[in-house]
Amino acid sequence: MSAETSEIQELGRSARQAIAAAQSPQALTEARARYLGRKGSVSALLRTLGELDPAERAARGQAVNQLKQSIEAQVSERRAELEGRAQDRSLAETRLDISLPGTVAPAGHLHPITQVTRDMVAFFTSMGFAVEEGPEVETDWNNFEALNMPPEHPARDEQDTFYVEGGHVLRTHTSNVQIRVMTGRKPPFRFIAPGRVYRHDLSPKHSPMFHQIEGFMVDDRVTFGDLKGVLYAFARHLMGSETELRFRANHFPFTEPSAEMDIRWGDEWLEWGGCGMIHPHVLERCEIDPEVWQGFAFGMGIDRTALHRYGLPALRVLFDGDVRVLEQV
Ligand code: DAH
Repeated sequence: MSAETSEIQELGRSARQAIAAAQSPQALTEARARYLGRKGSVSALLRTLGELDPAERAARGQAVNQLKQSIEAQVSERRAELEGRAQDRSLAETRLDISLPGTVAPAGHLHPITQVTRDMVAFFTSMGFAVEEGPEVETDWNNFEALNMPPEHPARDEQDTFYVEGGHVLRTHTSNVQIRVMTGRKPPFRFIAPGRVYRHDLSPKHSPMFHQIEGFMVDDRVTFGDLKGVLYAFARHLMGSETELRFRANHFPFTEPSAEMDIRWGDEWLEWGGCGMIHPHVLERCEIDPEVWQGFAFGMGIDRTALHRYGLPALRVLFDGDVRVLEQV
């Protein structure tokens, strides 16, 4: 074996070792440069070919070229191996177990008052009642006077009123909607009006803002019996088919006769709202002839209904906005 041949074999061996020893793509690039780079040992060998005589040059040139190709092949094989290993490592490090349960985004739900209100509205619309709202800042006429409560009427004191600049009031009940809706409308009709009302009364059982639902129906043969029938169906829809109501004679300026109604809750009777036959004066103020038309009306607290339906301890929890409480209903 000539000295030249063994030199080539030696280079081949050392290149193989260097390639195998490279532990990163960067180290491999450096190793390759040591042999095949411009200043590499194989390149240096190629440059010496010119000094040889033609016969020798051909044989040696072939041998060096083979060495060069073999190094290139080893480098690319090793590179594939190193890259594969790097990928395995990064997969292992950022392991994603797609069978793990995901993080559930917290979902909100409707406030209990909204839930009850929607349920009430659904019941009455199924009975053919239309829905009206009316404003929360109201004229004295719509909130009091047209409902048979002139300025000196004692019932005004009972409804601790918030007064607004310009002689308006924050409506103390949803009965204002009766006047708004009946004025300029021709019977027969039936409406409900859920919404916020305001009274200057702050105690554990009261809030200065609360919710009522008003209902009224005017036709040419409406009786107190119709009123009771509607209220019974309503109470049983909300609270269960065995629910009982109790009607107690009472006085409201805008109904005659009037009754207060209680709803049975276990062994207790809870005050639920007021009702009666719409007073003829109220109809007249709305330009409806009381000789031809009669109507019933009722109004009850939505918040109180929600309290009992969800078994909440106090009105306050409905308005505190404590999510821990609201999440339970
Ligand atoms: N507006 C009354 C209140 O807030 C409740 C009420 C009583 C409404 C009798 C009515 C009714 O429609 O007929 O205290």
